[in-house]
Formats: sequence, structure tokens, C-alpha cells
Amino acid sequence: MNSTVSTLYKPAELDDSAAWSAYQRAEMAAITQTLRLRDGEVVTMRAIRPDDAQRLQAFHARLSSDTIVMRYFRAAPVLYEKDARWLTHLDYDNRMALVATTGEGADERIIAVVRYERVTASEAELAFVVEDRWQGRGISTALLARLLAYAKARGFETMVAVTLATNVRMRAVMVHAGYPVTSHYADGCLTLTLDIRRAG
Ligand SMILES: CC(C)(COP(=O)(O)OP(=O)(O)OC[C@H]1O[C@@H](n2cnc3c(N)ncnc32)[C@H](O)[C@@H]1OP(=O)(O)O)[C@@H](O)C(=O)NCCC(=O)NCCS
Repeated sequence: MNSTVSTLYKPAELDDSAAWSAYQRAEMAAITQTLRLRDGEVVTMRAIRPDDAQRLQAFHARLSSDTIVMRYFRAAPVLYEKDARWLTHLDYDNRMALVATTGEGADERIIAVVRYERVTASEAELAFVVEDRWQGRGISTALLARLLAYAKARGFETMVAVTLATNVRMRAVMVHAGYPVTSHYADGCLTLTLDIRRAG
């Protein structure tokens, strides 16, 4: 995809203290909230953090192979340290992710991740993954709503998700997000585009 601004993010130069500027801390705190799911269960929603790398690897290790293929379009039984670092060290603008977690302190577990990555000045690509036993309980719907509001506030206009055409649940989450959606089918994949300039 065309990218006009992707060079803004330079992970090699971004140490943890840089990632945690006072501005970012305040914004991330504002995002943290408790979610009550449709079945009454309570989980926490927050921005992903650099110190989540090992938690993300543990989360990945609990995913079924079907869920991994739906997310990555290939088998990937292990999330390597380098990839976990990439997925947790974000600039919260060009790259942003929300997680749902359970437990606290040493017992805290990631159970879902919804993220975006900027691809042009006005468009970002979305990716979703929810731990199997937590799927179908409204977590993606809740995380996506918050992430779209965040993206909208940063001037993004369209948010794209590429999914296997057989992924009915993913399609439902996008269609129910409350924004106009268009879809394009090619080679077994569906590209769903949300226009977040409009109602939401
Ligand atoms: C696809 C996936 C991300 C969806 O996440 P989720 O947390 O399970 O989704 P939710 O529970 O929020 O929403 C899905 C369900 O809610 C329903 N739903 C959501 N919003 C709704 C609304 N406003 N009104 C009615 N129904 C709604 C959907 O129809 C769907 O119904 P189901 O529970 O019968 O399947 C998750 O299942 C997953 O991780 N799958 C494997 C990885 C993957 O496919 N990733 C996507 C490719 S990037």
C-alpha cells in the first residue's frame, strides 16, 4: 500500500523513556477503562505498552492455530521476541493498539488486541485478535469503537481491514461499527473500509 508518512516511526531510536513522554502518559491513562461484557464479565481496556512484550508472547501461545491463521493468514505458532517488541513499542499515532486484559500485577493477562498501522496520511489498516475462549463476547466491538474514536481524533478518514472472506465474525464486527462500510473481494480475501469521517 502507498505510504506517505510511515518513516515518522523509527523504533531503533525509540527507547522506553521516549515512548513514555508526559503527553503520552496522560493520553494513555484517559483510555484505560473497565469493560463490562455482554455476559457480565469485567475486563480492562488499555493501550498496549512496551512492557507488554512478554505478556503478548504468552497471549499468542494460548491462541489456537485457527485463530492465528485468521489473524496472520499463515501458521505462526511462536511470536518471537523481536516481533513482540515491534508490536508493543508504538508511537501511539502512526501505530496504536488497545488490549483487553484480565488480572492484575504479575497475574495480568492479555486476552485481546485491536491495532491500527498508518498506511497513508488519512488511512490506517486494522488488525484484530481475541483469545479463543473470549471470542464472541463483544470485546472486539468495544475495543474497535474506542480505537476508531482515537483514530478519528487524529485525523484519519478511512480504516481498512483485510480478512479471509470466510471470516463472518470479523465482517460482522466491522459492519456493526457504526460507520459507512464498503467491501472489495479478491483472491479469497475481503477488504473492508470504514469511512470514519461520517457518523459514529
Ligand atoms: C474476528 C474477531 C477479532 C472478533 O472479535 P470478537 O471479540 O469475537 O467479536 P465480538 O464479540 O465483538 O463481535 C462478534 C459478534 O458480535 C456480534 N455483534 C457485534 N456488534 C453487534 C451489534 N452492534 N449488533 C448485533 N450484533 C453485533 C457479531 O455479529 C458477532 O456475533 P457472534 O458472537 O454470534 O459471532 C475474533 O473472533 C478473532 O480474534 N478471530 C480470530 C482472528 C481474526 O479473525 N482476526 C481478524 C483478521 S485481522
